[in-house]
Amino acid sequence: MLVLGIESSCDETGVALYDTERGLLGHAVHTQVAMHEAYGGVVPELASRDHIRRLVPLLRTVLAQAGASKQDIDGIAYTAGPGLAGALLVGAGFAASLAVALGVPALPVHHLEGHLLSPLLAADTPTFPFVALLVSGGHTQLMRVAGVGAYELLGESVDDAAGEAFDKTAKLLGLGYPGGPQLAALAASGGPSGLRLPRPMLRSGDFQFSFSGLKTAVLTQVRGRKLSERERADLAWEFQEAVTEVLAEKSVMAVRHCDLDRLVVAGGVGANRRLRQRLDADAAAAGIRVHYPEVALCTDNGAMIAYCGAQRLLAGQRGPAGGAFGVRPRWPLQSLSAA
Ligand code: KG4
Ligand code: ZN
Repeated sequence: MLVLGIESSCDETGVALYDTERGLLGHAVHTQVAMHEAYGGVVPELASRDHIRRLVPLLRTVLAQAGASKQDIDGIAYTAGPGLAGALLVGAGFAASLAVALGVPALPVHHLEGHLLSPLLAADTPTFPFVALLVSGGHTQLMRVAGVGAYELLGESVDDAAGEAFDKTAKLLGLGYPGGPQLAALAASGGPSGLRLPRPMLRSGDFQFSFSGLKTAVLTQVRGRKLSERERADLAWEFQEAVTEVLAEKSVMAVRHCDLDRLVVAGGVGANRRLRQRLDADAAAAGIRVHYPEVALCTDNGAMIAYCGAQRLLAGQRGPAGGAFGVRPRWPLQSLSAA
């Protein structure tokens, strides 16, 4: 079965073709970073308009990569939420109308479920059950995953998500949008200094996180001062140490708590090299195996949506008939049911 995946929940347009027998056949992403940069963040209306411009050319690209034509598509999966309502509607409307034209089913997919299952696209596939650390711009969650659609929330951030903390702290350090990768690059030239930032909720005894205090601690360091290049880099380094230490330690605790031996990492912050280093070291010491998506599939993409949709279509699930579609800008992952 050849499944087209469409992702348009935020500032990336992702289109991909996944074949249930042959794997990922085509995958293309257009990022709107350059367009939103001038505003220091995503402008929803501009995002929606750009998704409209990009979808058809990206579809042509992935069809060419796969050596396929539109008529070969057996089903279409699209991100229906969570995300920006207008941006989601562009992808949903595109997917639903193409599905009607081709006479194939269109299936709404949960964006975070896409992230969560993205490591299953890698060569070294994790088997269920496992604990997943979902670290994106909007979410920081630890989940026990028993199978597709069987997600038990173990803990999450009570305030800012890890990616959001990276982005906001990057802004405080005078870096551009999106801040995560830029802060990580600055941190690479920094190192330990006298300064120590808090490790929020590290010893809370549960799987909750809190990152907004860290951002405030950084603000206290930069307010009213002109930092040298060295000081900025050291501050970025220490911030990254604090976030990654808490994420890694709590993830290992969660795997132990569930009496499992596998951890799966997904979402944009999963691309962070320091986080991967720490997770690998902490997990190895605890006899736990860690699975990551390919770095290119950590951030938003259509491949994870196509893969997730394919699993659900294979299980017989269908979306609304007759070209109907809807989006859910807010949509808790735990509300999903098994495929
Ligand atoms: O999963 P994603 O692409 O989009 C959402 O669904 O939110 O995640 C984007 C987030 C942003 O906050 C971005 O700054 C962060 O992931 N990010 C990183 C890195 N690459 C992306 N954060 C830290 N280090 C990175 N290398
Ligand atoms: Zn995402």
